[in-house]
Amino acid sequence: MVWSERQRAMLEVMGLRVWSAPAAAEPDVAAAAVADEAVPSAPAARPPAQADATAPMPVVNRRPMPAAQPIAAPVAAPGAVNAAGLDWPALREAVASCTACALSDSRTQTVFGTGHPQAHWMIVGEAPGEAEDLSGEPFVGRSGQLLDNMLRAIGLSRHAGDTPDPAKQVFIANTLKCRPPRNRNPLPDELARCEGFLIRQIELVRPKIILAMGSFAVQSLLRSNAPVGQLRGRVHSYQGVPLIVTYHPAYLLRQLSEKARAWDDLCLALDTVEAASATAARD
Ligand code: URA
Repeated sequence: MVWSERQRAMLEVMGLRVWSAPAAAEPDVAAAAVADEAVPSAPAARPPAQADATAPMPVVNRRPMPAAQPIAAPVAAPGAVNAAGLDWPALREAVASCTACALSDSRTQTVFGTGHPQAHWMIVGEAPGEAEDLSGEPFVGRSGQLLDNMLRAIGLSRHAGDTPDPAKQVFIANTLKCRPPRNRNPLPDELARCEGFLIRQIELVRPKIILAMGSFAVQSLLRSNAPVGQLRGRVHSYQGVPLIVTYHPAYLLRQLSEKARAWDDLCLALDTVEAASATAARD
């Protein structure tokens, strides 16, 4: 396989070493990933300068996207907070003052989510960790740095200042808005109660695509306990919005060999968005 510039940029950013094989040879990405070093503990804020720095960042969503349709509200889990109908400021306030579960006792602050309120891409992670609990922002630790690098590789950003175009923006949210003590897994009751907030965030953003990162996002959005490895690789639907399942960045930091699959998932998401855009432009 001969890698395109876009593919190379993405592989490099995700910490996969790309070697220049003869055109006829097929690089073994998984093996390369295993042999490679981990993503540096403090990855560069920008894509690595030495890694094909001349490659243009991929440009996605070249065509105008169709007007956003309202998302039909799913049935919230029993016990979920009721955030139906709240606008952004009211939703923020409801999250900040939430005491629906015991996590409110141990949190430093809630972590609402961040990004363009009409971003075309929505990313759903698990729960804040220590760095997020302290800063109030999602994905600011090591896994957040990897996530930002991955997003940058496909021309996306969580920072409105990078581009005003919502097609290139992501909104990042978690299934839980409070840090579980010692970063333990979210409990079913916590997920159920917090779900009302995530449901309303998705309704307000009305994304064109959702990336569910890790098993708790999958449980919440798809009501499935199947492993991520079984659900990834195809397009699911959340209330009519295409949803791609992929590995959580924290898992990718531990399982280097899965980065190639995560890269495939990003490509599938890109293809899905572009296909939807092309269909809408034709109709
Ligand atoms: N992991 C998550 O799932 N979310 C965060 O915000 C940080 C780490």
